[in-house]
Amino acid sequence: MKKVIIAMMVVFTFALVAYAAGPATIDLAKEWSTPTTKKAVMFPHDKHQAKLKCVDCHMTEKGGTLKNQKTGAAFEPAKLGIKGMKNPAHDEFCWECHTAKSVPQGKSCTKCHK
Ligand code: HEC
Ligand code: HEC
Ligand code: HEC
Repeated sequence: MKKVIIAMMVVFTFALVAYAAGPATIDLAKEWSTPTTKKAVMFPHDKHQAKLKCVDCHMTEKGGTLKNQKTGAAFEPAKLGIKGMKNPAHDEFCWECHTAKSVPQGKSCTKCHK
């Protein structure tokens, strides 16, 4: 009985952690209500979580509000509006870190729009 209870607790804890970490893949065009001309970006959240700290991208450990990679202030792309090549998603978030961390082909279009 004790073993069953422990097993249940373990499963519950894992479920909670998975939930707290947010989705594995996120459709950013949908999330940020971006009208698209390119293929919508399916953001591999899980792959980033494996390599980085939550607070590299979010204002807190729990997720939620994103962090501007240039200024460290809150970053709210849905409110800023994303349109065209020179947009805040590129300049103040994705590209900024990809350049800083020398991600291979970090700025090539098909890496993200595919
Ligand atoms: C490389 C950047 C990056 C890292 C690292 C990262 N996240 Fe996220 N996360 C995002 C983006 C982008 C979104 C979706 C867009 C948005 O929230 O506006 C998101 C969404 C979420 C969501 C969904 C709720 C929401 O705000 O829409 C949760 C929960 C979350 N992240 C938690 C975490 C936790 C916990 C960690 C650390 C284990 C983490 N994230 C690491 C970028 C990141
Ligand atoms: C804080 C740093 C950081 C931010 C912000 C960030 N990335 Fe990344 N990204 C990385 C790193 C580091 C890697 C390389 C991971 C590896 O070595 O596999 C990566 C890899 C990727 C990959 C390739 C994953 C694969 O399959 O190998 C994609 C796609 C990607 N990022 C998309 C995005 C998009 C879209 C955004 C903006 C919404 C973004 N990233 C924001 C750090 C970041
Ligand atoms: C590191 C990831 C990343 C790379 C590389 C990238 N983008 Fe983006 N781009 C985004 C994100 C995130 C958005 C906003 C969400 C969306 O549109 O799905 C966006 C939005 C856009 C938009 C506005 C929305 C639309 O579809 O019209 C255009 C235009 C665009 N990108 C063009 C490009 C071009 C051209 C390249 C190559 C020079 C490029 N992007 C490379 C992540 C990236």
